[in-house]
Amino acid sequence: FDHESAVNSRKGSAAPTPPPAVTGIGKKVAKPDYSEDKIVVAMVGLPARGKSYLSNKLMIYMKWLEYEVKVFNVGQLRRTRAKQRAAQSGVAEDHTSSYFSHNNETATKLRDALAEDSLEMLIQWLKDGGNVGIHDATNSTRDRRNKIQRRVAKEPGITLIFLESVCDDPKVIASNVDLKVSSGDPDYKDMSREKARADFLRRISEYEAVYETITEPKLSYVRIYNVGKEATLSRMNGYLSSRIAFYLMNLHVKPRNIFMSRHGESQYNVEGKIGGDAPLSARGMKYAQVLPALVKDNIGDCEITVWTSTLQRTIQTAQNLPYQKLTWKSLDELDAGVCDGMTYEEIEDEYPDDFANRDDDKFNYRYRGGESYRDVVVRLEPVIMELERQADILIIGHQAIIRCLYAYFHSLPQQELPYINIPLHTLIKLTPKAYGCDEERYKAPIDAVDTHRPKPGMTPRVSDLPTTTSQRKYFTEEEKGKA
Ligand code: ATP
Ligand code: F6P
Repeated sequence: FDHESAVNSRKGSAAPTPPPAVTGIGKKVAKPDYSEDKIVVAMVGLPARGKSYLSNKLMIYMKWLEYEVKVFNVGQLRRTRAKQRAAQSGVAEDHTSSYFSHNNETATKLRDALAEDSLEMLIQWLKDGGNVGIHDATNSTRDRRNKIQRRVAKEPGITLIFLESVCDDPKVIASNVDLKVSSGDPDYKDMSREKARADFLRRISEYEAVYETITEPKLSYVRIYNVGKEATLSRMNGYLSSRIAFYLMNLHVKPRNIFMSRHGESQYNVEGKIGGDAPLSARGMKYAQVLPALVKDNIGDCEITVWTSTLQRTIQTAQNLPYQKLTWKSLDELDAGVCDGMTYEEIEDEYPDDFANRDDDKFNYRYRGGESYRDVVVRLEPVIMELERQADILIIGHQAIIRCLYAYFHSLPQQELPYINIPLHTLIKLTPKAYGCDEERYKAPIDAVDTHRPKPGMTPRVSDLPTTTSQRKYFTEEEKGKA
């Protein structure tokens, strides 16, 4: 990525080298020091160009990879400060479009000061241990960017990259404006939708009047044009910056669903054994038979691609699905090392300390000769990247693998991740939205063992309990015959 203004299509470059592996086997390991890097990502763009969306996505991705990331939203700071002033003076401030006009000198000064204060907080947070601080503001003039550049240059060891989102697609802009005025945005919560829309459009015009796209030489930046149709990279040096750029280049916002299911019940599941490469049980085979109907009923008209691991239980589960299939080694189940093929009871007998250590910190515990959940997260990074690029995908995976992918899409914390309840014989549909993900679960009416082992002493939350939602009944050929 060390190239000047290279224009990349979305299909492209190879993933950067992953960080060094974590050490510590069969015991609790301290959090790895992945990176000493400290980066300010300063957003650039008109209102309604997806800056907050991109900031949030980048935060979720980098946090999933265990970097310390925080978004500093200047709009929020503006509202908080205005409330404090109003509480003192008794007079509410007017933040309608005229506040954002470059002719409004008082407000322009106030807005510049807010951006500077927010940057100060961000820099302090980086000095206190953060890795990536995202300055979520418009930063849409050269003057503003110069100020940011001069300030960050005073801090040795802190890198600055700008992320500009340019969008002139009227459909995308209209839908972003709709989202703003209909999603309870705090600037518009007390206004009718029509008034809010008119005001927000005027606000955009105020910014357009002074907007300067990045042309400054020597700035490090990524420019995303029309939601990833084209990306421009300039002076992106270093591991973390390249990784950020690569991720941003792969994002798209076309509506799509991500389906996930564990393989059908395997013979090892029935015997309570972990790992291995066992075939499906008779009930698992039935799940493989009903899966095509379960999927067809819930995907609509879309073209879907099925991803499996290289292990036979996922391949057998997918065997009747009439779609294009792809096998990923990275989707293989968490490697249980010397415990592969054992039951949890056998592990407790043979490796009692290991067993206790795993209960104590399941995310970090690495099986002897095998992997930890943390290792799996690192190995799944290319899968996440590919999922961001793709449209509708169905993943037939394993318990630990689906937990990791699910945690990414729902932005769940590490300590919860290894306990997420992903029952057998259940299809999960995730629909990414601007902020977060909708979810539906469809349970096939075929019994299976429950392989979920809650943390000892932990009361399961309602969301951890097995789901019973079933949109309709699905029958195996055998059952249909009997009916
Ligand atoms: P504001 O300055 O008013 O806060 P914003 O630039 O932060 O606006 P968002 O609130 O992030 O805009 O807009 C959210 C919408 O942006 C989402 O609906 C999302 O689909 C869309 N979006 C995501 N990425 C992009 C992009 N690269 N270009 C344009 N729109 C995008
Ligand atoms: O029990 C099924 C299984 O897929 C095992 O092969 C794997 O080791 C385990 O789940 C992962 O779940 P946990 O991390 O809860 O032990």
